[in-house]
Amino acid sequence: MIWACPVCVDPLTLVERTLRCANNHCFDLAKEGYSNLLLANQKNSKQPGDSKIMLRARRDFLQAGFYQPLANQIVELIRPYVSAHSQFLDCGCGEGYYSEQVYKALQPSISGIDIARDGVRLAAKRFKTLTLNSQSPANFAVASSFHLPLPSHQLDAVLQVFAPVSEPELLRVLKPRGVYCDVSPGPKHFTQLKQKLYRQARDHEAPAIAPGFTLLAEERICFDIELNNNRDLQNLLMMTPLYWKGSIEAKAELMAMDAFTLTIDFVLRLYRPAGTGAVDDEL
Ligand SMILES: C[S@@+](CC[C@H](N)C(=O)[O-])C[C@H]1O[C@@H](n2cnc3c(N)ncnc32)[C@H](O)[C@@H]1O
Ligand SMILES: [Zn+2]
Repeated sequence: MIWACPVCVDPLTLVERTLRCANNHCFDLAKEGYSNLLLANQKNSKQPGDSKIMLRARRDFLQAGFYQPLANQIVELIRPYVSAHSQFLDCGCGEGYYSEQVYKALQPSISGIDIARDGVRLAAKRFKTLTLNSQSPANFAVASSFHLPLPSHQLDAVLQVFAPVSEPELLRVLKPRGVYCDVSPGPKHFTQLKQKLYRQARDHEAPAIAPGFTLLAEERICFDIELNNNRDLQNLLMMTPLYWKGSIEAKAELMAMDAFTLTIDFVLRLYRPAGTGAVDDEL
């Protein structure tokens, strides 16, 4: 097990169904195989992160394949750096869609964390099904990106898709030659949805370069998806925080629609920790 104790940072060892450190801090494994390594003082609410409704909607929407082009592009971007021998973290993994896509393409050892317990549960179950209940090739834990329960400098790659991260924590857990793949909304992302919900749409601002990292590559993927049934549209709406904030009338109108064209726009960035001298080899 890759996990480190969230209390004292000593390695955690799995004995039967309990993770234990040398200082006797213990964390039980849930029946789905994930652990809860989020300490009470690391939460800002009773049930932090995305809600069960949002996670279910995201699962259904992603399983329908709408973001498959993004998943493919992530895989191709990290492929030169990730192999079956790599330690890979999906930070803010949600219900585990990208963890599975990366595992299927590149077979690294997968770890995933999310602050939402329901997301981690869905992600762990996804891998149990994938491996027909034999030993899962992935470890999931409820944890915050701001306090990663991981030892220092053991990871070869970290992926972040639309989730909060702490760059100092990523620099701590990555190997000096590790890579960090950051996926953020591009300028036109969800334009039509924002127009409906807010009656106007400001472009997303370009994300800042991650401090402490050197940029190896930047790519953009922008395409339209056609939502041709009410179910897909409802899933899309319910998985996004926009929906939970926008106007009530606009939401009702959208929920009743059967067809909607939506622009999907992502910026993918691949980084290395700065100052390791590792970038020169790539150029
Ligand atoms: C937009 S969702 C993206 C989920 C997943 N990466 C995907 O694209 O399917 C953002 C995720 O970040 C998680 N999250 C929010 N705050 C977090 C934190 N401090 N630490 C870890 N995860 C967090 C949420 O629970 C949610 O699952
Ligand atoms: Zn401990």
